[in-house]
Amino acid sequence: MDDEKQQQSTRTRSFVTRGRKTEAQTRAIDELWPVYGVEFDGQLLDLDAAFGRRAPRAVEIGFGNGENLLTLAERHPDTDFLGVEVHGAGVGRVLGEMRVRGIENIRVVRHDAVEVFEHGLAEHSIAEVMIYFPDPWPKVRHHRRRIVQPDVAKLIVRALVPAGVLRLATDWEPYAEHMIAVLDAEPGLVNTAGESLFIPRPEDRPVTKFEQRGERLGHAIFYLEYRPAAHP
Ligand SMILES: C[S@@+](CC[C@H](N)C(=O)[O-])C[C@H]1O[C@@H](n2cnc3c(N)ncnc32)[C@H](O)[C@@H]1O
Repeated sequence: MDDEKQQQSTRTRSFVTRGRKTEAQTRAIDELWPVYGVEFDGQLLDLDAAFGRRAPRAVEIGFGNGENLLTLAERHPDTDFLGVEVHGAGVGRVLGEMRVRGIENIRVVRHDAVEVFEHGLAEHSIAEVMIYFPDPWPKVRHHRRRIVQPDVAKLIVRALVPAGVLRLATDWEPYAEHMIAVLDAEPGLVNTAGESLFIPRPEDRPVTKFEQRGERLGHAIFYLEYRPAAHP
């Protein structure tokens, strides 16, 4: 968890470092990072060692305060969940909640997810990738900061197992259109709803703060699902 290292790269980032950790979050990190935190140093992550087992693996990019990650990990104890987030408060909250709720199948990387996908994940090793309510970066001059980009789509395709799935959601319609344009154009992915189409809200999706906020603001919520394209 090296804040300084995070600032040094010249890549256009999809995030800004923000917010303060509460005392409880700081304590959770001090006490639990050595158990559930995974240091990323630009090398391939040893996830078998990090989880202490081999199981189907899901990765959530930018888990925020971890509502989705924690609920899914509780519901699916036989799956390993890797959460990648740069926001320290969110990391602290997830670690603290893991202790309170007795969750053992989450590991957390505090680093830019794009770099983790670039260097940290083995090819075809991840069953599910989730990107929920990513920062919309609404101003045109900031669009290049959006995490859903053609190069990131390629990195996700590379990480997914052949029967894997990529799931996304957003309440920002222009971002939904951007997502579908980028991901439908990626030859390694197939939109399960059909070209240019969204899926209905998945029934088993935990309700999260950002989803509720979008609904309160009167925004439509867009859900997307992609599978790796089958190659003969
Ligand atoms: C708008 S919040 C949504 C949080 C959560 N997914 C949800 O649905 O509640 C977006 C989160 O993505 C994180 N984020 C943005 N870019 C990231 C990146 N490149 N790597 C890791 N986390 C990132 C931000 O720190 C922020 O917590």
